[in-house]
Amino acid sequence: MNAVLTPRAGARESNDTQPWPMLELERFTLRRRGVAVLDEVSLTLAAGQTLALIGESGAGKSTLAYAAMGLVRPPEVVFEGRLAVGDCDVGEASEKTLRTLRGSRIGMIFQDASAALNPCFTVLQHLSEPLRRHRGLRGADCRRRAVELLAQVGIGDPAGRLSAYPHELSGGMQQRVMIAIALACEPRLLIADEPTSALDVTIQAQIMALILERVRALGASAVFVLHDLALATQVADRVAVMYAGQIVEEGPVREVLGRPRHPYTRGLRASAIEFGAERLAPIAGVVPPLSAMPAGCRFAPRCGRASAQCSQRPQPLSIGGVRVACWHP
Ligand SMILES: Nc1ncnc2c1ncn2[C@@H]1O[C@H](COP(=O)(O)OP(=O)(O)OP(=O)(O)O)[C@@H](O)[C@H]1O
Ligand code: SF4
Ligand SMILES: [Mg+2]
Repeated sequence: MNAVLTPRAGARESNDTQPWPMLELERFTLRRRGVAVLDEVSLTLAAGQTLALIGESGAGKSTLAYAAMGLVRPPEVVFEGRLAVGDCDVGEASEKTLRTLRGSRIGMIFQDASAALNPCFTVLQHLSEPLRRHRGLRGADCRRRAVELLAQVGIGDPAGRLSAYPHELSGGMQQRVMIAIALACEPRLLIADEPTSALDVTIQAQIMALILERVRALGASAVFVLHDLALATQVADRVAVMYAGQIVEEGPVREVLGRPRHPYTRGLRASAIEFGAERLAPIAGVVPPLSAMPAGCRFAPRCGRASAQCSQRPQPLSIGGVRVACWHP
């Protein structure tokens, strides 16, 4: 795992003088109505690194992303263990601290820009909100910065687009506007939850390349929630494979996806290869409901290698820089 670069200070209020390693989870569990939606998740993302979160639907990828933004937190859910963004312990931070973090230090790109943008606000109004709130810009300064941001995300005639409402923009342009909003205040961490899956395949690659280019230009860290393993290999330094609320394998992306050790990661990869060959071979079986998970390895009911030992929870092993939670990797 990468060293955490920040000094830790519990629930200290965040400020600009702290160095920012980005995300750290230590045996972090999130319970919703008594059910562990995230279960003892440990993860460290150093400053400037990019991480792909992959796994089947319902694995908890979005829940992790929303929890890191402080959008899902106590008392709505129960937190155990630690979830920190830089030096800010998200479970203990005040709502005021989290509001400062969001937009200013963490930017988020959602899956569906048409749902995330307010249909009653113009592009300028959307961009002005974070610029005013976190950068104190007003009037002509705000407008100038908004034009600059739209130009950076490849929107032609940026000044002319400021007065447009979301419905006057194509899906790709809406997504570009959302990227501009997320990056308006030059965040240190970007969280992008399936940022291109609502878009036409022809522009998915363009938008992904744009996000990556902006993240690199800012020297920011990024978490990409993805379903596409090939894309994960292209955009991320590290990957965390999630299954039923747990990280089952985590490490450098080429190592994990090039030589998967966990049976679930192997299954995902085999399924992706078969899918590429137009012979879809999904992993046999279905994810049990979170309220009825087996006590030991959660993947056991679907695993061809399961043994009696697998009725005990596997603790992560470190193999060649990769962490694998499996008794028989
Ligand atoms: N608001 C909610 N209330 C209750 N349960 C929820 C809520 N949001 C998510 N869940 C449950 O939490 C679990 C994790 O869901 P999550 O949306 O994080 O998965 P995901 O990995 O992002 O899936 P997908 O790939 O489909 O987006 C699922 O079992 C889901 O049904
Ligand atoms: S711990 Fe056992 S059941 Fe779980 S993935 Fe590994 S071999 Fe399969
Ligand atoms: Mg999701």
